[in-house]
Amino acid sequence: MNQSPWVLVTGGAKRLGREFCLAFARADWNVVCHFNTSDTEALQTQNMVHGLGKTCVLMKQDLSAADAHTHLLDQCVSQTGQLPQCIVNNASVFSMDDAASSSAAVLQMHFQTNTVLPLLLANALALRAKTAPHHAKHLCVIHVLDQKVHNLNPDYFSYTVSKLALERSVALQAQALAPGVRVCGLSPGLSYLSGDQTQDNFDQASKVNLLQRQIQTVDIARTAVFMAENEALTGCTIQADNGQHLVPLARDVMFAINPQGGA
Ligand SMILES: NC(=O)c1ccc[n+]([C@@H]2O[C@H](COP(=O)([O-])OP(=O)(O)OC[C@H]3O[C@@H](n4cnc5c(N)ncnc54)[C@H](OP(=O)(O)O)[C@@H]3O)[C@@H](O)[C@H]2O)c1
Repeated sequence: MNQSPWVLVTGGAKRLGREFCLAFARADWNVVCHFNTSDTEALQTQNMVHGLGKTCVLMKQDLSAADAHTHLLDQCVSQTGQLPQCIVNNASVFSMDDAASSSAAVLQMHFQTNTVLPLLLANALALRAKTAPHHAKHLCVIHVLDQKVHNLNPDYFSYTVSKLALERSVALQAQALAPGVRVCGLSPGLSYLSGDQTQDNFDQASKVNLLQRQIQTVDIARTAVFMAENEALTGCTIQADNGQHLVPLARDVMFAINPQGGA
C-alpha cells in the first residue's frame, strides 16, 4: 500500500460524501469510505478513487447505534493499519419537521447521527492518538455543518438544532482535544436536491445566495482538503456556500421559492 495519509469520510458513497472522497484522492490521500445503505454507490465511489490512483477501503455501518464510533474506528485501524489522519463527519439525517411538530423520537434520531456520533468519533480519535502516539500525526476532524446554522429559520427544526449543537461544539472540542487533534467546521450551502424537492425548485433555490449561482460541490469538498492540510486551523468554521448564509429568509430556501417546496 502507498504511504499516503488516510481520510475517513462518513456517508461517503454518494452526493457530497463522494465529492469529499474524490477531493482527498485527487490531493493524494487514501480513502476509507463509510456507508450504510448505499452499497452500489459505495462501490462506484471506490472505483472512482481507484481510478485516481489511490486506495479506497469500504466500511458499511449504521451510525445510529450507541457504540458505532468505536466500531468504526476499530475497523478503520484494523483495515488500514493506522489511525485516519483526517475524519470528515459528513453522514447526516435530514428529515422535515418544525418547532411545533418535533418529537422526542425525531430529535433523538437527528442528534445521534448528526451530533453525538461526530463528537464521539473525534473523542475516540484523540484517545487512540494518546494511547498509540506512534500512530498519531497532525490529526484533524472536520464536522460538516450547514449554512442554516448561521442563517436560522424554523424549518427542518430537529436537523437544524442537531447541527447547531455540533457547530457550537467545534471551538469547545478544539480546545479540549488540542494539541493532538485539530477540530474544524465546514458549512456547505444548498448543494443537492432533497426529499420531494423538484428539479425546478432546486434550480431556482440553488441560486439564492450572494453570488446568484449554483454552488460547485467540488469547491465545498476541496475546502475540507484545505482544512485537513492547513496545520494553522483549529476551532474555526468555513462557510462554503456562495454567501448563502448572508441571505436571510423566513423559511427554508426550498419553501421561499414555493410554499409547498414542490414545482
Ligand atoms: N445536500 C445539501 O444541499 C446540504 C446543504 C448543507 C449542508 N449539507 C450537509 O452536508 C453533508 C452531506 O449532505 P448530503 O445531502 O450529501 O447528505 P445525505 O445524502 O442526506 O446523507 C449522507 C449520507 O449519510 C448517511 N447516513 C444517514 N444516516 C445514517 C446512519 N444512521 N448510519 C450511517 N450512515 C448514515 C447515508 O449513507 P447511506 O446512503 O450509505 O445509507 C447518506 O448517504 C451533511 O452533513 C449535510 O447536513 C448538505
